[in-house]
Amino acid sequence: MDALVRLLQLLLLLLTLPLHLLVLLGFWQPLCKTFFPYLMAVLTAKSNQKMKEKKQELFGQIKVLAEASGDVSLLELGCGTGANFQFYPPGCRITCLDPNPHFEKFLAKSMSENEHLKYEQFVEAPGEDMRQLADGSMDAVVCTLVLCSVQSPKKVLQEVQRVLRPGGIFFFWEHVAEPRGSWAFMWQRVVEPTWKHIADGCYLTRETWKDLESCQFSKLQITRQPPPFKWAPIGPHIMGMAVK
Ligand SMILES: C[S@@+](CC[C@H](N)C(=O)[O-])C[C@H]1O[C@@H](n2cnc3c(N)ncnc32)[C@H](O)[C@@H]1O
Repeated sequence: MDALVRLLQLLLLLLTLPLHLLVLLGFWQPLCKTFFPYLMAVLTAKSNQKMKEKKQELFGQIKVLAEASGDVSLLELGCGTGANFQFYPPGCRITCLDPNPHFEKFLAKSMSENEHLKYEQFVEAPGEDMRQLADGSMDAVVCTLVLCSVQSPKKVLQEVQRVLRPGGIFFFWEHVAEPRGSWAFMWQRVVEPTWKHIADGCYLTRETWKDLESCQFSKLQITRQPPPFKWAPIGPHIMGMAVK
């Protein structure tokens, strides 16, 4: 099976040679960082339609974190276009964090469409190093479709635990690997070395639930979901919450 995967990977690499050459010459990354936000703006609008009820259900639970004042300090990790803002309850004070500043135009649009929230700051940084944010400063951290793209999911989850206050909640929705040994998993492995360049560093075969399970959260709830788009090589999704 491994030999077949390598052969098919090579075939796909040859078919997409110009892309891989651009990557090697260092031209692709800046190009991708610029166009990816446009792609995400289209895709998130569509995926929000399909995921509306699930996201409402998940983010509806943010209300339990509100203090007497009704305020919730919430970090949106890998905020992208701000696709989740519409699902947050009034009174949330949002800190946005993303290493790609090219999302700014789309983020500003989402902010202007969601005036029921307070926007505190935008931090341009990777989730692996959120040193601008103090320990225990967040009631909630939200991360959707991000852990597939980060350099180190483990480091990001350590940082999430650091910035959450005790009792704070991490909400997530992530795509993950198909079951090992399945044909779908084999195709994910074939496509991944090319896909990760097209989709701004996105890995298809991450078993993110394992990273979550190995963290020291006091409570972890994970549900498995089918992908919102059947045509993409992106596999099943996991959705849930983890309490610090
Ligand atoms: C597929 S988009 C998802 C955006 C948004 N969370 C959503 O659900 O629409 C992935 C996002 O993760 C961001 N990202 C990539 N690497 C990251 C990292 N190391 N730390 C934090 N965010 C990262 C990207 O810039 C992008 O905004």
